[in-house]
Amino acid sequence: MSPAPAAPPRTPAAVVARTAATDLFGTRFPVVAGGLQFLADATYAAACARAGIIGFLTSNHFPDDASLRAEIRKARDLCGDLPFGVNIAMLPRSSEHERIERIVEVVAEEGVRFVETTGRSPEPYLPVLKAAGAKVMHKVPGLKYAEKAQSVGVDMVVIVGWECGGHPGPNAIGSIVNAALARQRLRIPYLIGGGIGHGAQVLAALAMGASGALMGTRFLASTEIPAHDGYKAALCAASENDTTISLWSVRNNARTLINETTRLVAELERANPDAGIGPLLPHVSGAAARRTYADGDTSRGMVYAGQALGFVSKPQSVAEIVEDLIAEFAAARAQLDACF
Ligand SMILES: Cc1cc2nc3c(=O)[nH]c(=O)nc-3n(C[C@H](O)[C@H](O)[C@H](O)COP(=O)(O)O)c2cc1C
Repeated sequence: MSPAPAAPPRTPAAVVARTAATDLFGTRFPVVAGGLQFLADATYAAACARAGIIGFLTSNHFPDDASLRAEIRKARDLCGDLPFGVNIAMLPRSSEHERIERIVEVVAEEGVRFVETTGRSPEPYLPVLKAAGAKVMHKVPGLKYAEKAQSVGVDMVVIVGWECGGHPGPNAIGSIVNAALARQRLRIPYLIGGGIGHGAQVLAALAMGASGALMGTRFLASTEIPAHDGYKAALCAASENDTTISLWSVRNNARTLINETTRLVAELERANPDAGIGPLLPHVSGAAARRTYADGDTSRGMVYAGQALGFVSKPQSVAEIVEDLIAEFAAARAQLDACF
């Protein structure tokens, strides 16, 4: 008797496109919602899961183990069998004040299955995470860092380009260059992020060898994001032309909405590029971002957002955004097919 054929990997019912990423996460569409500090919580991650993608709740703004543990348990309750992940954003150099080791331990103890790391090498934390059965996706702002991450044994990498909201790194390389070069240099599955907000871009990323696309900005105005309506309205009114890069003088490039703060910070950086973070800190702290999320006033503070704002025009639920992405993906595929 011949052996039974191997069972295919478990994937949800209506899979739209199957890749190494959808197989790894058990999702139906190869889009990943990256961590969003102060914004990506259990409710948001669960909305992503129900829409057929995976979302990562952010861990480093929880002040203690108990509050992080409670949020992870809430995500598990809301998601049931569906996948979610936890984002661990590290500073480029470890500091005595950070809680990364505790966060890693809580994530491992809670049996979180998917972890998105970023900021510096996750190598010291891989043994603990892997022993707990977690799959680690490391996010980097350039291919050379992706190659390093591959060499230390992460399961997947994400390369974000210069267009991205948040921290695009020092190299000013765009996503379309990253996507095609990554295919030549990486052996492990990779995602492309930075400026992606349309389903045709997801298809293009797959065509260039990626296993999917990671997005942040496209989801910022979604109804499940816990922020003031005024903030979301400002994002919807903004376009791809309304962001800028600051903090280059302290080698911590950040892409945010152009506003009073970025104009002031630009003056300070131009006037004294060697002054370090000291004079900039009062203007760029996380407290200002939290104020914006609470009161909706985007005229001040570092309001992280990327060029994918060009695709954000109205508040929508995560499910509606994913359905739009899927329809755009299908239309782009049909357009391609018509060429052959
Ligand atoms: C408001 C905001 C907050 C973010 N916070 C985090 C974070 O806490 N951890 C992290 O790894 N990435 C963070 N990012 C980056 C996103 O996860 C993602 O890499 C990026 O948004 C992708 O580029 P895009 O904005 O062009 O889609 C943030 C991005 C934004 C816009």
